[in-house]
Amino acid sequence: MISSAPGSKAPTNYRSVQIGDISLKSPFVLAPMAGLTNWPYRYLAQKFGASLTFSEMASAIALAHRGKNTLRLLRNIPQSPPIPFGAQLFGKDPKTMGEAARIISYEGLSDLIDINFACPAKKVMKSGHGAALLRDPNLAIKIVETVCKCSKVPVTVKLRPGLYPPHPGTNPIILTLAPSLADAGAKAIILHGRYASQGFCGEADWHLVAELSSKLPIPVIGSGDIVTKEGAIYRLKSSGCAAVMLGRATRGRPWLFTQAMDLLEGRDPFTPTKELIFDIASLHARLLEEEIGPRALFLLRQVLVWYIRDLPGAADYRRRLTQAPDFTQQRAILEEALGGP
Ligand SMILES: Cc1cc2nc3c(=O)[nH]c(=O)nc-3n(C[C@H](O)[C@H](O)[C@H](O)COP(=O)(O)O)c2cc1C
Repeated sequence: MISSAPGSKAPTNYRSVQIGDISLKSPFVLAPMAGLTNWPYRYLAQKFGASLTFSEMASAIALAHRGKNTLRLLRNIPQSPPIPFGAQLFGKDPKTMGEAARIISYEGLSDLIDINFACPAKKVMKSGHGAALLRDPNLAIKIVETVCKCSKVPVTVKLRPGLYPPHPGTNPIILTLAPSLADAGAKAIILHGRYASQGFCGEADWHLVAELSSKLPIPVIGSGDIVTKEGAIYRLKSSGCAAVMLGRATRGRPWLFTQAMDLLEGRDPFTPTKELIFDIASLHARLLEEEIGPRALFLLRQVLVWYIRDLPGAADYRRRLTQAPDFTQQRAILEEALGGP
């Protein structure tokens, strides 16, 4: 439960977000992002103050069969002090979802399980997964009930408001589905306020986040389009949600979590020096290389560009970084751009 009573618009203590038996130390949470939020990414987010991080979405079928690559998605690193880590699951069969939840929670793979009813990708929805579950609310409720029964860690659900924007005069399905998911045992609802049909186009509807926050007896975490620390505070305060999720804006800017907390608590926001940015980018590169070996070279062509995108001459650095044939040259370009040691 959040510190404010249901129906109240303004939580007063942002350090007391409670998801089941998990307390978050801040209302700024890292979004799950497939292909991105591997453990090096999560490690940096945690280091800079994210209060909860999530894995990339993992298939319940693959987990139930203990698929090596899927188990790898859930790898986490020991933290001191520990920060809660959520494993995100997708699947459409309650039994398989329950089996995956049992494995995750009894083997201590995560502190929380999040169910994905949010992914709008064609190949995911075509097979009845992700946001496709919004088509079948009874099945969605059954999945949540089963996962809650099988899991010994808190269960949350991430959703879109519906498949399509509703016809005028009708309500999006989220407004009836979310209370049922809370009744089924979900300990928080995460809403990315774009309809599945929108993919990532248009704008996330934060009015729905506000409406759910005022109605549900469990915390609501809002997601969508937060690009600055000021935006994070604005969305948190104006929607009355328990916490906000930061996604794309944290690419190459893990310190956004620190900055948002500074702003919330009335401090001058932390500003990283170029040298620190170099150190962070280098650490990101080293951890990715450790995790995935030579293949990291290709991923780093994307990742390192995030860190230099605001510099004068960024276009030229970007071109060179994406063409660099090895780690040594990537690092040399990074050093030239950011003035490393
Ligand atoms: C590359 C990418 C991968 C994503 N993968 C997932 C995912 O695996 N599970 C999920 O629930 N949401 C996923 N999302 C959605 C984000 O969690 C988030 O809700 C969305 O990006 C909106 O927030 P933002 O505007 O802060 O990025 C993904 C988004 C992006 C950009």
